[in-house]
Amino acid sequence: MPLCSNFIRELPVPDACVWRDSPIDGLLNITRGEKVVLIRVVVLRDYRSLSEYAAGLVGQRIMRKPAAVLGLASGSTPLGLYRELIGMVKEKRIDLGQVVTFNLDEYYPIDRESSQSYHYFMRHNFWEPAGIPPERAHIPAGKVDDIAASCLDYERQIRRAGGIDLQILGIGVNGHIGFNEPGDELIRKTHLAALSPETIESNSRFFETAADVPRMAISMGMGTIMKAREILLLASGSSKAAAIKEAVKGELSTMVPASLLQLHPRVTVLLDREAARDLG
Ligand code: GLP
Repeated sequence: MPLCSNFIRELPVPDACVWRDSPIDGLLNITRGEKVVLIRVVVLRDYRSLSEYAAGLVGQRIMRKPAAVLGLASGSTPLGLYRELIGMVKEKRIDLGQVVTFNLDEYYPIDRESSQSYHYFMRHNFWEPAGIPPERAHIPAGKVDDIAASCLDYERQIRRAGGIDLQILGIGVNGHIGFNEPGDELIRKTHLAALSPETIESNSRFFETAADVPRMAISMGMGTIMKAREILLLASGSSKAAAIKEAVKGELSTMVPASLLQLHPRVTVLLDREAARDLG
């Protein structure tokens, strides 16, 4: 059970942004008229409860639409969710054989077979054990000659699949989502991104030497992410508390890319207690 939910940020927004659907009974308050819930925050006791809750939500969406298009994230945060979903598949509570997936990002340049690639991470931690056929699991190519064409093609594939139904996100300590780093402007579509010093530092835990840590990545753009019909952002641990506060309660700013999620009509932010620490 969540410790608390419905952190409600009320702002006047156009009617078109009103979220009328209530996917989880009892958790959503809609204020009609000028004010609406923009970001729904659910705080869980710990990482395990967070992962179980997230899996319940994702599982429910898949039961409703077995051929759902899922946007997936790498990083350590969604690992618990992936483990739970794999458990649900093994217990035959859900079947992921029909879903189509698109990952947010991939390092550049990197060979997909490298054990440091996000492709490798996803294949071992989710796609294979969850029974997602390889032809349905997509991720930006980390080694291509024509980056622009490859990015355009990724956008085209997402479009052809019908767009993303549910996008799962983690968050960087600097408020990035995917590899959309803080800056004066954010890029709309899939693109080659230069990683910020904070991100390179955070990612260094996965590499042997600092020199091995990639400086670039291919990432879905902010527009690609915002076009998803529903978004689920997960954050765990006190290192994410400041970024979460800025994203959920702060001003909209390109310096905190996740703050733009306040404009999305259907976002759920799932936090453990540490990540929610600064929300007050
Ligand atoms: C990387 C990924 C992001 C992820 C972030 C947080 O930068 N590109 O998509 O959200 O790391 O990772 P973690 O969940 O390991 O903290």
